[in-house]
Amino acid sequence: MKLKGLTAIVTGATSGIGKEIAYLFSKEGAKVAVIGRDNYRGAKVVETIEAAGGTAAFFNTDLTDPNAVAVMFSNISKEFDDIDIVVNCAGVVIPGTVDEISYENWENSWLTNVTSVFLVCNAVIPSMIRRSRGNILNIASEAGLKGLEKRAAYCAAKSAIIGLTKAMSVDYSKNGIMINCLCPGTIETEMVEKLIMTSNNPKITKQAMINRRSTPYLGTAEEVSRAALFLVDPLNKYITGTILAVDGGATAR
Ligand SMILES: NC(=O)c1ccc[n+]([C@@H]2O[C@H](COP(=O)([O-])OP(=O)(O)OC[C@H]3O[C@@H](n4cnc5c(N)ncnc54)[C@H](OP(=O)(O)O)[C@@H]3O)[C@@H](O)[C@H]2O)c1
Repeated sequence: MKLKGLTAIVTGATSGIGKEIAYLFSKEGAKVAVIGRDNYRGAKVVETIEAAGGTAAFFNTDLTDPNAVAVMFSNISKEFDDIDIVVNCAGVVIPGTVDEISYENWENSWLTNVTSVFLVCNAVIPSMIRRSRGNILNIASEAGLKGLEKRAAYCAAKSAIIGLTKAMSVDYSKNGIMINCLCPGTIETEMVEKLIMTSNNPKITKQAMINRRSTPYLGTAEEVSRAALFLVDPLNKYITGTILAVDGGATAR
């Protein structure tokens, strides 16, 4: 077990990629704080982890709200030891070009995708510095590495996560904190299912998503979780500030 005795926070763990990361980390021995806003799905994730013999607890938190994040850390500290691993996976896609996106949607995209990462890191890093160890993994996207049609707010937010990851790695590697970023390509989760089903032609939309990559298929959340495990492995003391694409070769094209 690679994460035995460690404590992990996984945001966006009520669904898709974050949920799969929470499952894998728990199988690898970590105690997992499951973060999201949906009580039903949060309880289901905890139930599944516990049924498999793992330990987890759900903390309902709107990560766009600084006060809610402070309450979340206070509640986590009552149930969990110091945090060893953080995966910032919560996110939202707001489709549209710049002239189509409302200010409210732009702000929601920025708060959910970027500010949430800042708030969580801002709260957790002091204790990691005190313990001279820690591992933070931010989930950006293929959309942070290239421009995608009708994804202006999303591309901007995911590029910001890449910049934030690099800056934090420069600041905190000397403190023993490894900070990396994963850029998934299109992964078949609820988020992508919704984008496909609400498009004008779901079949063509899905095929276009596949055509952007070298693999003739889309990725799975399990695939991304394995890359996440590789980057948060406590034996990793030299990989930091890395931006790793898990995208079926899309950004290599
Ligand atoms: N799927 C892809 O193709 C793909 C590709 C590249 C990058 N990504 C990134 O990977 C991450 C996960 O994507 P996914 O496909 O797994 O999405 P998903 O199934 O829609 O899950 C999104 C997660 O984010 C949480 N979340 C959203 N807003 C939140 C808020 N304000 N406060 C707290 N939690 C919030 C949701 O929890 P609640 O609903 O419980 O609030 C949910 O657990 C995202 O950052 C996404 O941008 C996904």
